[in-house]
Amino acid sequence: MKILTIHGPNLNLLGRREPEIYGSKTLDMINREIDRHGEALALATTCYQSNHEGEIIDWLQNAGKEGFSGIIINPAAFTHTSVAIRDAIAAIELPVIEVHLSNISAREDFRQKSLTAAVCRGSISGFGSTSYLVALETFKLLLKP
Ligand code: DQA
Repeated sequence: MKILTIHGPNLNLLGRREPEIYGSKTLDMINREIDRHGEALALATTCYQSNHEGEIIDWLQNAGKEGFSGIIINPAAFTHTSVAIRDAIAAIELPVIEVHLSNISAREDFRQKSLTAAVCRGSISGFGSTSYLVALETFKLLLKP
């Protein structure tokens, strides 16, 4: 089974971006953790990152025909602003799990509202890079081969 992970805007700067909030791991390090954990669970993982809303929407729309069984998405700031990404998640049949490194419920008011979470199967927030690994475990338990 193939799982697509989509990282949203500014996550390419992880490691040096506000490390007191997002930790010191780079996106490459996190992607390697996702790949290794996927291997251990017999899930094939692919990781994309984009700073562009339209590109993320294209990936969401195309994931089904590219043979993915589920999508893990950290929409980053688009979580709080993007009706278009929400609509794309609602439009596709694949299950989507939303993840966040930080606990968005414990942050500024504008971060506590996710436009995207309600159209996802569920969300995992606040465990640093482990949020992605918990999402992989969840897909392993939810998806039947
Ligand atoms: C984030 C939380 C968002 O509010 C923020 O805009 C991000 C990262 C997280 O993973 O904690 O860029 O999605």
